[in-house]
Amino acid sequence: MPLPQSEYISNIWKDDIFTNKVVFCTGGAGTICSAQVRALVHLGANACIIGRNVEKTERVAQDIATVRPGAKVIGIGAVDVRKFEDLKEAVERCVKELGGIDYVIAGAAGNFLASIEQLSVNAFKSVMDIDVIGSYNTLKATLPYLVESGGKNRMDSETRMPAPLPLKCFLFWIGKIDPDLVQPAPGGTGGRIIFVGATLHYRGTPFQAHVSVAKAGIDSLSNSVAIEYGPRGVTSNIISPGPIAQTEGLERLLPSDAKAAYTKSQPLGRFGHVRDIADATVYLFSDAGSYVTGQTLVVDGANWRMSGGF
Ligand code: HXC
Repeated sequence: MPLPQSEYISNIWKDDIFTNKVVFCTGGAGTICSAQVRALVHLGANACIIGRNVEKTERVAQDIATVRPGAKVIGIGAVDVRKFEDLKEAVERCVKELGGIDYVIAGAAGNFLASIEQLSVNAFKSVMDIDVIGSYNTLKATLPYLVESGGKNRMDSETRMPAPLPLKCFLFWIGKIDPDLVQPAPGGTGGRIIFVGATLHYRGTPFQAHVSVAKAGIDSLSNSVAIEYGPRGVTSNIISPGPIAQTEGLERLLPSDAKAAYTKSQPLGRFGHVRDIADATVYLFSDAGSYVTGQTLVVDGANWRMSGGF
């Protein structure tokens, strides 16, 4: 039975806003990323999800495809984001089968609770490799397609909204600049990347040194992309989820017997739902989010602002 819409996206969006767009998502078989992709596919996109486990990745891809008749969703398993060549091959297959890449979600991550003393050098490095190198590899492999999609976006906006008439006359009079190209319009929906971050490093979180360092690196990477590739029509943002119910991350970080008390302590009195993250993703990739870049959208119900948050 198909998953009810309310489990992965709110009903406020128009159903066709991502028609003919393609999303490429690492960690796409995971609970949060699969909801993000499911929401985008529901709204018209086709998708390619990447994972390490072949059976799980293919099964989740098939399941996501059921949300919309005609949706194309490819699941590519046996891809380790730590290996650039794996990602490059996956990107080539995605482009060959789906025609390009407009949106990227760099979602693959690894985590566990461990004190700094317990962390072996290799354990620290493994999380850095999956989170930071993996995000970089994802960016690097998809960047040509993001630039292509973002470039189209800019051309669309430049032709859609010429400069206001008085400015146009002035520019024409001085004869120096093509007046129709001085004021790109708001809008456009291609050439977008979202990295999945965390709030752990905002204050310092015990037993999370490895992932905190990694997520701080990802914050920095996203900022560089926003500045360096903004001129080519690419936007880059981070979504940092708080405690999201029924995710592997929360299962690993919070013992079951502590959940009820922890939920009550939250400012909004609940854990996040994967839908909260999916809706934030839709906003950032949509026409409405076209001027938002170089930002972190923290979707955590104010968890990190309270004492005792993650
Ligand atoms: C201490 C551990 C450990 C643990 C693994 N290691 N688990 N050390 N405590 N619980 C050590 C191993 O002993 C090894 O070091 C090194 O880490 C590498 O582990 P491997 O098992 O060899 O394989 P690898 O595939 O590299 O493992 C990756 C992993 C694993 C990150 C360690 O947990 C993983 O694959 N997780 C994927 C799924 C996942 O974590 N999802 C949750 C993401 S949630 P030695 O020295 O022995 O060789 C998330 C949210 C963050 O990221 C924010 C939340 C708010």
